[in-house]
Order: sequence, then structure tokens, then C-alpha cells
Amino acid sequence: MRRKKALIVYYTQTGQLRRIIDSVCKSLQQEFDFTYEELKPNPAFPFPWPGMSFYQVLPESVQETPCKLEAFSFDPEDDFDLVILAYQPWYLSPSIPFTAFLQTEEAVKVLKGKPVITILGSRNMWIMAQERVKKRIFDMGANLIGNIVLTDRRHNLVSVITIAHWMLKGEKHGGGLYGRLFPPAGILEKDISEAERFGFLIRDAFKDNALEGLQDALLSQGSIRINPVLMTTEKRGFMMFRAWSKFVLKKGSAGDPGRERRLKMFRIYLFAVIYLVSPIGGLVVWIIHKLNYRKTRKMIQYYSHNEYALSD
Ligand SMILES: Cc1cc2nc3c(=O)[nH]c(=O)nc-3n(C[C@H](O)[C@H](O)[C@H](O)COP(=O)(O)O)c2cc1C
Repeated sequence: MRRKKALIVYYTQTGQLRRIIDSVCKSLQQEFDFTYEELKPNPAFPFPWPGMSFYQVLPESVQETPCKLEAFSFDPEDDFDLVILAYQPWYLSPSIPFTAFLQTEEAVKVLKGKPVITILGSRNMWIMAQERVKKRIFDMGANLIGNIVLTDRRHNLVSVITIAHWMLKGEKHGGGLYGRLFPPAGILEKDISEAERFGFLIRDAFKDNALEGLQDALLSQGSIRINPVLMTTEKRGFMMFRAWSKFVLKKGSAGDPGRERRLKMFRIYLFAVIYLVSPIGGLVVWIIHKLNYRKTRKMIQYYSHNEYALSD
């Protein structure tokens, strides 16, 4: 029997996403030949992020403005049996290198008519990013058959601090008092290694020619866990990020020093919202979800699946 061919397109700064991909794909090695395409922005985004650079990417992330990418090594004419798209959200949007890939001619060529699986490695807010990725995949005539999302399971208010430390200082787990107070940043190692179970389901879906049932099989193994409070917080946050990105863009495009003042205002807004508004707001949202149990369940169902419908 002919071995199947899979293309894996990904971008990662810390290597976390690559480890997730390797874990998911471990059990697929026997059936598939993999072509890896690591996206390389030119110039590269820094890691760790110095100064205001972390906030500077807000407007372009939210507006899905592509960056320049180095030439790809895969052949877009190649007839892959499966394309795996692995990415991370930046500001509730697909990361800029990944959004850039989705807007290339090569992506359109290689994805058209193909089964696609998305794999996300995020902090805990990915739904709005995936909605836009879903739409692009749908518009390109590809068939999204599976979505696997790994998140940092620690409390939202803790992971905000640990991710900021990781991204801005480059340390996954800091030392001294910080290290004693806070856990390591990112997705639990256990969750990464256990992601291997999703690979078995992908393998079986191809073997049994049952791709349409893959997403439900993945969900039954916990491929997506949606917290309703975070879901609503994210939806509201995305509207605010949109408004902020337009406000900043009025002062210039990427790299323009004129935007710095507005981005500093955004930084204050971001932490104020997270620490002052979200604890009380979260409680209110939680009560609303309890009262609207059915509506909440419907929304979770929708975001857990791969159909794209303009949801709001
Ligand atoms: C600029 C920036 C913005 C981010 N915004 C989000 C976000 O909106 N939601 C989220 O869950 N994670 C967010 N993250 C965390 C990333 O999704 C990801 O987990 C982290 O960058 C590590 O991924 P990587 O090393 O594989 O690139 C952000 C990271 C960066 C650098």
C-alpha cells in the first residue's frame, strides 16, 4: 500500500508547538511520510521580546496583516493526503507568520481540496483566532477535519503573569522569589506527551476512511476544552482589541515610533482589564452562563466543531 504524504506547516518561537506536533504525529510515522515546513519571517520576530516589541505586533496581528516570509521548501504542486497547520494565537488572532502563510499563493495551491487538521498551542484564548483560520481554510476550498488545542491549564490570572515573564524575559520558569511564587509558563509537559493519543485517532480515521467522524473522535479524547467564562471574555476582548488596533494604526504602520504612546496606553489598559475588571466581570459572566445553560452549550458545541458560520 502507498504510504501517505502529509505536509506540516508551523511556526514556533520557543519550540513548544514543535514538541506538540511531534507528540501528535508520533503514532503516524508508520503510515505517513512527513514534509515539515517551518515558517521563517524575514526579519524574524524577536524572542524574548525586548522593550515595547511585544505590544507593537497588536495591530498587525488583529488586522491579519502579513509579514514577509522566507521562501518555502515544500512543493505546492505536491499532492498531499493531509495538511497539518500548527499555529499559536497572538492577540486573539492567528500569529502574524501563520496568517502570512495563509495568504500566500502556495497555501491556496497546496490546501485546495485537501483534508486539513489544525493544531494550536496557546495560553488559553484561541477561539477567535480559530474562527478566522476556519474561514480562510473554508474559502480556500480545503476541508478542515480536525482541530486539536492545547492550552495552559493554570488559572487565567496566573498564566497571564507566567506567559508575560516567559515572552518578555525568555525564562519559562524564573528563579528567586518569582520562581517560588509562580509555576513554569506554558502547556504542561504531561499534556504535550499525552497528545500522542490524538495521533492514533487520526491514523484510524485514515485507515477506515472515516475522516468525517474524526473531530468527534478527537473531542471524545479531550482535544478541546472550552471554559465558558474565558470564551465570553475572549469574544469581548476581541472587540476591544479591534478598536485598539485601529486607534494605534492611525499613528502609523508597523515599526513607526509614532505609535509608541498609544501602545503604552494599550499596555496599561490590558493589565487593568485583566486584574481589575476580569475578576468581577468573570463572576457576572459565570452567572449569566449558568442562567443561559442551553445557549452556552450551543456556543461550546459550535466552537468545538469545524463548520464555519458567521457566529456574531
Ligand atoms: C505577541 C503574543 C501574543 C499572544 N497572545 C495570545 C493570545 O491572545 N491568546 C493565547 O492563548 N496565547 C497568546 N500568546 C501565547 C502564544 O499563543 C503561545 O502560547 C506562546 O507564544 C508560545 O508559543 P510558541 O513558542 O510555540 O510560538 C501570545 C504570545 C505572543 C508572543
